Amino acid sequence: MSGRLQFDLLVRRGTVVTAGGVDCLDVGVRDAKIAAVGSDLSGAKQVIDASGKLVLPGLIDTHTHMGIPIKDTHSIDDFASGSVAAAFGGTTTILDFSVQKPGQSLGDSVRGRLAKAAHRSHVDYSVHVNLTDRPEERLEEIPALIEQGFNSFKAFTTYKEQGMMIEWAVLPSVLARIDAGGGLLMLHAEENEMVTSLTARHLAAGLSAPIYHARSRPPEAEALAIEKASRIAAEIGARLYIVHLSSRLGLEASRRAKERGVKLYLETCPQYLVLDESQYRGREGHRWITTPPLRSPEDREALWAALEAGEIDTIGTDHCPFTSAQKDRHGGAFERTPNGLPGVENRLAILYTYGVASGRISLPRMVQVLAGQAARLFGIDDRKGEIAVGKDADLVIWDPRPEVRISAQSMHGNADFSPYEGMKQSGRLDRTLLRGQVLVEGEEFVGQEVWGQWLASSRPKTLK
Ligand code: URP
Ligand code: ZN
Ligand code: ZN
Repeated sequence: MSGRLQFDLLVRRGTVVTAGGVDCLDVGVRDAKIAAVGSDLSGAKQVIDASGKLVLPGLIDTHTHMGIPIKDTHSIDDFASGSVAAAFGGTTTILDFSVQKPGQSLGDSVRGRLAKAAHRSHVDYSVHVNLTDRPEERLEEIPALIEQGFNSFKAFTTYKEQGMMIEWAVLPSVLARIDAGGGLLMLHAEENEMVTSLTARHLAAGLSAPIYHARSRPPEAEALAIEKASRIAAEIGARLYIVHLSSRLGLEASRRAKERGVKLYLETCPQYLVLDESQYRGREGHRWITTPPLRSPEDREALWAALEAGEIDTIGTDHCPFTSAQKDRHGGAFERTPNGLPGVENRLAILYTYGVASGRISLPRMVQVLAGQAARLFGIDDRKGEIAVGKDADLVIWDPRPEVRISAQSMHGNADFSPYEGMKQSGRLDRTLLRGQVLVEGEEFVGQEVWGQWLASSRPKTLK
């Protein structure tokens, strides 16, 4: 290190969000790590002037699905295209999911998934272990996977027809094994019997318009599954993480469980905060089909209130994009349209615009749910989630001044439409840095090489 140039890079005079609050500070980077946070730092090979801009830690998306099989097709982003889109959204770590084929061990499914990300992902990554094929026969694998740094697991209480559902009878032994090893089970909570009987009833009556997707998967199905799962968690004393919470009823079921002492963590997604089921009534309503479905404006407001009150721990996107051609192929029939929405590029913009700039949540709270709490829950907080000395130099610089409109045309994933098309956006991404390297500068992706690394998790921590 030269005596004069103590930093490789200085990000100067930004409005920096740290655990201590929000302040005008400089951030010094050396050897891909944050080396100093303070005032009037100097001596750097490169300086970025961030005055008038926000400087946030690189964000963590807890929930993405790059190139996974859904119905008769695959989500259209792979790790390469999806990670570029992530970087344009200020996300420097994505937590995706393994895909377990019938008969495949969990270990093989995880290794296969990592092989798809390696040398392709431009941002850092890890995978949650999906338990879809006879999890009761895979219990022995769980402790070993946790030791190897895979300590978050995911089960579905629905999608039986797609061979992905965990039976309720199996859940206790799976949850107990994961919890005993210090792991965390993430649950897609929808009561499948209710969903299949409502779906059958609607289809028998010839009702396959997109709104019947929402009617076939009502909030009651989410609440019932949360209720059942949290009772099982209570008996075992296990922690449980609910993915993509979408409804007021689901939130109330979660609240009751927490009041009974269940250690329940909640994730919601931008689509449940700013969109609602009226989207399904439009001419292209089927393009918004995602599971759980978009809900009512009242559900949306209940989620915002919970977010503000600190009841929601993380926000992931559930990024699972399709092209309009993929969405349109079945003439809008809800049961055949591939479910999922793009969103990995929009999460920060939406939370900033409709959360912070609208006065609903504070800047530190936004950073908590987009980065800090995910880092702690998924055991990557030794490196990620915070602007602090010793952490990876993952930084997002956000210019809050421009007023723009969200448009798929200026986005970077493979989907050719955006569920947020035309919505107002307060501010614009200025730069994204991963481990000190600038990945995005203005409208340009400037990452020189594929820079993403696999992140091994230590055991998930309990949130304060
Ligand atoms: O419809 C969605 N969200 N597709 C991805 C799979 C899931 O349930 O998260
Ligand atoms: Zn899901
Ligand atoms: Zn998902």
